[in-house]
Amino acid sequence: MKLFIDTANVEEIRAAAACGIVSGVTTNPSLIAKEGRKLEDVIHEIVSLVDGPISAEVTEGDAETMIAQGRDLAKIHKNIVIKLPMTWEGIKACKTLVKEGIKTNVTLCFSVDQALLAMEAGATFVSPFMGRLDDAGMETEELIRNIAKVKAIYGYKTEIIAASIRNLKHIESAALAGSDIATIPYKVMMKMIEHPLTDAGLKIFANAAKSK
Ligand code: E4P
Repeated sequence: MKLFIDTANVEEIRAAAACGIVSGVTTNPSLIAKEGRKLEDVIHEIVSLVDGPISAEVTEGDAETMIAQGRDLAKIHKNIVIKLPMTWEGIKACKTLVKEGIKTNVTLCFSVDQALLAMEAGATFVSPFMGRLDDAGMETEELIRNIAKVKAIYGYKTEIIAASIRNLKHIESAALAGSDIATIPYKVMMKMIEHPLTDAGLKIFANAAKSK
């Protein structure tokens, strides 16, 4: 499973990318607002840090405006992916942008039916949200597994991005359910390497090395 970083903070992206395991970046309007910067400025900087898909989300409600915004954002760099909402307008915009060779990511996906629409529209990526489903007390691993199953049965090329990841359990569930990608906040990604037995083992080996 590929790992994307889910942030608009360039320092976090730089630090995670330096670890060598980041294949892409996802942003959304909330993450951009948190940085207090313009979407275009942040995106320009991110493309210089990670050579992989970089999702930039449109903010307009109707298909025509989303298409226009998507075309402008896509001009920034070949790696830009236009993130579109799971609405009929978003699906219409997806279909048009895909025909023009622009990569898309249909976001705010919470059901197999919604994922099916994104896949039929030819989306490059679809983003089911694990954390928000979990918050609502709903099953997350099953959703990813079922979307992956539909993808396999019909041979869709759309890649599944497990999003809204809050903890290590979400990452493990996404991987076990067959997600293509998990997009992970920086703090959660850094926790992936932690294990108390690794720390204990490191101490034992360091002591052994000193005792020579
Ligand atoms: C990524 O594509 C999503 O926008 C993001 O993971 C949403 O996460 P949240 O539910 O924590 O806002």
